[in-house]
Amino acid sequence: MKKTVIITGGAGFIGSHVVRLFVTSYPEYRVVNLDALTYAGNLENLRDVEQASNYIFEKVNITDQTAVNALFSKYQPEGVIHLAAESHVDRSITSPLDFVYTNVIGTVNLLNAAKELWKDNYEGKRFHHVSTDEVYGALGETGFFTEETKYDPHSPYSASKASSDHFVYAYADTYGLPVVVTNCSNNYGPNHFPEKLIPLMIHNILNNKPLPVYGDGKYTRDWLYVIDHARAIDLVFHQGCAGEKYNVGGFNEWKNIDLVKLLCKQVDEKLGRPAGTSEQLITFVKDRPGHDLRYAIDASKINKELGWKPSVTFEEGLSKTIDWYLENEEWLKHVTSGEYQQYYEKQYN
Ligand code: NAD
Ligand code: DAU
Repeated sequence: MKKTVIITGGAGFIGSHVVRLFVTSYPEYRVVNLDALTYAGNLENLRDVEQASNYIFEKVNITDQTAVNALFSKYQPEGVIHLAAESHVDRSITSPLDFVYTNVIGTVNLLNAAKELWKDNYEGKRFHHVSTDEVYGALGETGFFTEETKYDPHSPYSASKASSDHFVYAYADTYGLPVVVTNCSNNYGPNHFPEKLIPLMIHNILNNKPLPVYGDGKYTRDWLYVIDHARAIDLVFHQGCAGEKYNVGGFNEWKNIDLVKLLCKQVDEKLGRPAGTSEQLITFVKDRPGHDLRYAIDASKINKELGWKPSVTFEEGLSKTIDWYLENEEWLKHVTSGEYQQYYEKQYN
């Protein structure tokens, strides 16, 4: 009999890489991709695996407890990897309630469905909640987030993710649900929606549009190639200790302004444009309210206990990412038509 794993948010950026990894690495699993296909969900991300015999897509909104229960009852999963979320900080500032519905209530709905289905026997079951380093708040110029760092979220997005993490631990403590949690730093790579820094800058460089850097551009993020995040999820899902959390990060800190300049240089080189062409597009714009100064992950626990470390250097990862966007103009055109234009006008003009 096949083991069934439900992956939520599998049509999104990170979720699609996790789905691909599981469908191709575990032919003996049945992988069910549960996704509502919001503006961020895109089945084009999974064209190469959609015909696989061990892959199933189900369009379900996790805010709908009845629909979630029906899906659990239909597929009887042994495992859940939960990535579905509203994920963009700027959108959470304008529409916080959407983040409460999906990230908090949606997570509790999934926990309820898993608890109900597994209540007679937790043996061999696992609920993996995919979370973020933003739950820890902001660092100053030094230090790292460890698994012991206290939660201190600042944006409605990070507050909703922190809340969902607390519910996951509460279900472990109260009902004994076998959970694992990963808190990861900023991802980048193919299929990244161009509302986030790296793909937005690549898209604008390609189209000779202004490159909007918030505030003074000195904010710092720790970047990880998305496939390395998917590998970490695979390891923790299979080998992590129940009830434990694992930080995942790239050991790779960049100030936004330096990263944007690097992107300008690399894209110009690949397009054969004269050096310095795209840097002229950099425009400092109004800062993000409540902007966290710096994130940096101490990923030594997952490294020591499970042997995980990034497999791709930033230089390789960024080059592969830019090449992907250059080779996938159609994808970029599709996701930047319609709703994206309205969002962009509202956010940047
Ligand atoms: P994304 O926005 O690209 O994708 C989210 C997916 O969830 C989409 O496919 C969307 O359709 C789906 N979704 C949204 N609301 C839903 C709902 N109510 N019901 C069902 N499906 C719904 O997000 P991402 O960047 O791939 O992030 C995935 C997860 O990883 C999130 O939980 C996020 O908090 C976490 N995370 C992201 C990063 C990052 O850098 N992107 C870093 C650490 C953790
Ligand atoms: O740390 C993990 C988190 O990383 C994830 O949990 C989130 O889902 C993901 O969106 C990301 O959050 P950030 O807010 O760090 O990512 P974003 O790409 O939106 O912004 C990165 C930095 O770049 C941040 O300091 C804000 C800045 N920025 C962003 C945009 C979109 C700009 O200067 N200009 C921009 O136009």
